[in-house]
Amino acid sequence: MYSSLLTCFILLSIAYASFAANPRTPIDVPFGRNYVPTWAYDHIKYLNAGSEIQLYLDKYTGTGFQSKGSYLFGHFSMYIKMVSGDSAGTVTAFYLSSQTTEHDEIDFEFLGNRTGQPYILQTNVFTGGKGDREQRIYLWFDPTKEYHRYSVLWNMFQIVFFVDDVPIRVFKNNNDLGVKFPFNQPMKIYNSLWNADDWATRGGLEKTDWSKAPFIATYKGFHIDGCEASVNAKFCDTQGKRWWDQPEFHDLDNFQWQRLKWVRQKYTIYNYCNDHKRYSQTPQECIRDKDI
Ligand SMILES: *[C@@H]1O[C@H](CO)[C@@H](O)[C@H](O)[C@H]1NC(C)=O
Repeated sequence: MYSSLLTCFILLSIAYASFAANPRTPIDVPFGRNYVPTWAYDHIKYLNAGSEIQLYLDKYTGTGFQSKGSYLFGHFSMYIKMVSGDSAGTVTAFYLSSQTTEHDEIDFEFLGNRTGQPYILQTNVFTGGKGDREQRIYLWFDPTKEYHRYSVLWNMFQIVFFVDDVPIRVFKNNNDLGVKFPFNQPMKIYNSLWNADDWATRGGLEKTDWSKAPFIATYKGFHIDGCEASVNAKFCDTQGKRWWDQPEFHDLDNFQWQRLKWVRQKYTIYNYCNDHKRYSQTPQECIRDKDI
């Protein structure tokens, strides 16, 4: 009896762990539950009772939205279908930011391209106001054809960027090496679509073709799984107790390291860690991760 209860408990724990490792975030949470428009309200279109939205960019303005709440740690995801066709010059961004003077920020930026040419995904991490940690990759699919899920896992140990279930970047807590790690400034989640043809596509050579406007990006999956905190909070009151705090999320597992390696080897365009012209001394946080 006791042992079957134990087995049952173990099985349940495994089921829970794999649920958590691969959170099946509900994708039908309406926009209005967790998010509000940030600017240019008339450039946001609501579909399916607000469970899907579209951002419009034209020559007058882009637009964006942000979470109502601020969060310290958690798992944040968004399903996005990027601007299709000629998207050169446009940038679709999904990021977390504390918007403070010495801000922390975790960025996904999708740089559009001419029809048939590949998007670039640029990521960056700011800690205590310091960024300059760009990485750029190509994706292994066309992000304009279907929805894909982009997510961030953030706990005391690491920040992981995922594309669907594939980790494309990890920023470990290297506080012991003197590298600041975000831990005491709550962040909000932001999404926006804007014109950046001064730098985005082929370094600014390709300009936005306004005759193709409006440019439209589509979103769903407005679920948020984080420790909600007031803007000025310095800690999360459930710290250590939520699923993303558990030991299996303190590091990537073997399979995830393999996949990260695959992305690094096959899809990397730029990694600040290897930019020896820019950094004569390799940044501290790059040293531990250099073998992947
Ligand atoms: C756009 O396409 C060109 C040509 O294939 C490529 O060099 C560039 O990396 C692509 N992406 C961006 C955002 O410039």
